[in-house]
Parts: sequence; structure tokens; C-alpha cells
Amino acid sequence: MTSYHYQKHQLQMEQVSIKSIATQVQTPFYCYSQTAICNAYNSYVEQLTSMDTLICFAVKANSNQAILKTMADLGAGADVVSEGEMRRAIMAEIPASKIVYSGVAKTQSEMEYALSQNILQFNIESENELLLLSKVASSVNKVVKIAFRINPDVDAKTHAKISTGKSENKFGIPISKALAIYQLAAKLPGIQVQGVDVHIGSQLTQLEPFENCFILIKQLVEQLREDGHTISIVDVGGGLGIDYAEDDSEVPTIESYCALLKQQFSDLGCKLILEPGRSLVGNSGILVSKVIYLKEGEERTFVIIDAAMNDLLRPSMYDAFHNILPITETEEQACYDVVGPICETSDTFARTRIMSVINEGDLIAIDSAGAYGAVMSSTYNTRLQVPEVLVKDNQFSIIRERTDYEQLINQDQLTAWQ
Ligand code: LLP
Repeated sequence: MTSYHYQKHQLQMEQVSIKSIATQVQTPFYCYSQTAICNAYNSYVEQLTSMDTLICFAVKANSNQAILKTMADLGAGADVVSEGEMRRAIMAEIPASKIVYSGVAKTQSEMEYALSQNILQFNIESENELLLLSKVASSVNKVVKIAFRINPDVDAKTHAKISTGKSENKFGIPISKALAIYQLAAKLPGIQVQGVDVHIGSQLTQLEPFENCFILIKQLVEQLREDGHTISIVDVGGGLGIDYAEDDSEVPTIESYCALLKQQFSDLGCKLILEPGRSLVGNSGILVSKVIYLKEGEERTFVIIDAAMNDLLRPSMYDAFHNILPITETEEQACYDVVGPICETSDTFARTRIMSVINEGDLIAIDSAGAYGAVMSSTYNTRLQVPEVLVKDNQFSIIRERTDYEQLINQDQLTAWQ
């Protein structure tokens, strides 16, 4: 599902040359392929036609309005984790009736906003959150539809910082306490239980943890029904990993993941909600950057680029591997450390990486940056937030402009005593 190819040794996103975008936009910038996003979405849809399914894009992966509008036009719903994300989804015309509201600690005002929009489902993560939602819903004479996010104590076998389904993680209701909390919910005013929700982590590179988790969830649905609850929705969360082109990694395809879903859930008589983020947008995007300097260290050659950890945090935060490609293809290879200009050693994109020979002034692309890239960027070191560009066929459009220094610095205010 890669979004680019080389034509006459020049990197192209769909039919647009990256060099031509760079001339107009300046580096660094994010660049996404709309076709790649649509293809990934359609792979899910095609595999799951036999089941009643709603694909709710996990907005946290990429919340740009143009990306969300792409999802809306495809018929997707949204999985949101804050009022801000809900507002973004609704502004991009994703119907509230297709929005599920996840998140560990929804506040009263967030609940009030979500209630006013009549969303599809709240995914509740604790007893106290349930009690507050019951109070808030009753006070406006509404009945809200909920699922509980279950913590099944399953190891997702992914990076510890994005693993969410073990009992030591803060997420969800322990599976051992599930029956009790459903019983409590059934008695509360303003609450209508309709589903079971689970999400055990992100960038899962094996199907086995999903399978272990789904077996437990299926058993739970059956037990809940025996206890008299009407369970019509199973929300399986997101988490399917993507191929970051690391040598030893092999990631299950969307097709094989959907086959597992069908195998586990097709006879359960439930609507299935999926919350994929990374697998819809991750491989659709690159971060384009320019080499400022080459620097010969005593042991290494450093390629210092104009993108930094504030623009793409994943390598410094999770030691994540991202492939680095030259914009102009070359045969010759060399070994480099690719680093940004920020004053921290963690501002490193690749260590001792064998890659195409690079010169000062060259453009490079950091691959698979469509998910958890722009959304996690910051202005650390008073660097300007980078623009985003969306490509479709032979056209491209800037979907977020670069901020300017005035805008950025003017967010601060002096105190009355200065
Ligand atoms: N649903 C819930 C409740 C989630 O918490 C998440 C991601 C998703 C769905 C989407 O998961 P996906 O399909 O994208 O794996 N910043 C990290 C990833 C954090 C994921 C957090 N939750 C990274 O850059 O790897």
C-alpha cells in the first residue's frame, strides 16, 4: 500500500513529483496520498461486506480536516478521544451517528458536548466515569448508549509505550469485573448498555494477541447475554500494525486481520465497529526534508536535515524505525546517522543506516509518516509547525499552511506588571 514510486529516478507521490511540491511549499512538509488512504479503507470494506460493520477512523492518527473529509466521503465514522477531536470530525462532516467516543477520562463538559451531538456510543473506562455520565445524561433527560472498554489482560506484543491491554495498564474495566459493572449500568438512569469494546494496543505485528483477545470478548458477550443484557455491538478497537520496512518485520495484512474478525464474530449477531488509525493512513504519508549539512564525526557521518523531533516524534519517543528515501534515486550507498537540528541526542531519525548516498541540499523522504506524525508535532525550539500537503492523481493541495513566527510568538502575552 505504498503511495509513491520513482519515475526517471525522481520520487513521485501518485503523479506529482515531490521536488515540484518542495519548490512551492519549502521543506520540511508532510505529504499524503489520498488514493493510498482510500485503498486502505476500501480493503477493510471489501473484506467485511458479509458483516454489518462500521469503520470508525481513529482521529488521533491524523486529524487534518482534509483527511477527515476524505474519511467522511468514504462513509467512515470516527473514533474520537476528546471534545476537540469530536469537533474536528463533525466539522469534516462525519455524522455524529457514526462517532464513538473513547478515552480514559471524559470530563463533565466533554460529556455534555457529546450528549448534545447525539453520538453513536460512549466507550466507558471506569465506574466513576459511568456514574458521572449517568448523572449528566439524566440531568438533560437523555439516555446515552454505551459500551464498556474491557481490559482483557492480553499482551499485545508491541512497544511498551503503546501497549494497553495488560492488567497493569490504566485502560478499561478489568475483565474479571466486567459482569458486575454491566449489572450496575443496567440499573442506572440515563444509561443504555449496547456494546462491548476493547483495544489492546497499537502497531501490533502479530494476529495472535488479537485472536486471544477476541476469544475472550466473544465469551464475555455470551455471558452478558445470559445475564439478560442486550449486546448488539462489538467494538474491536484499532491496532493493526503497518510495514515500516524494517528488515525483520512482517506485518499481517488488512485481509488476514479481517479474516480473523469474520472467523471470530460472524455468528455473534452483533454489529462490528473497527477503530483503525495507523493502518488507514500510516503508509500514505511521508515527511519531506532537506539536508542542511553533512558532518564528519570521528566515528560517524551525520546527515543533518531540516526536519526534527518536534516534527516527527516517533523515532525519539518509541525508537521507531522509519525508512529514509532519497528524492532523487541513486545506486551508491553509504552509512549515515540522520539527525535533526535540535539540541538533544534524541533528535535522531536513524543510526548507522545504510542508505543512498546523500549530499548537502538534497531532499529526502522519511517514510510511513502518515499516522502519528503531524498530529504529534510541536513547536519545541520555537520551530514553525510544518505544513501538510494532500496529493490526488496529478494535483496537490496544501491542507495546512506553515505557521509564521508572528503567529507563534504572539500566542504569548506579557503580564500586567511588565
Ligand atoms: N482506538 C483506541 C481506543 C486507541 O487508543 C487507538 C490508538 C486506536 C483506536 C487506533 O490505533 P491504531 O489503529 O492507530 O493502532 N503515538 C503512537 C500510537 C498511539 C496509539 C494510541 N491509541 C505511535 O506513534 O506509535
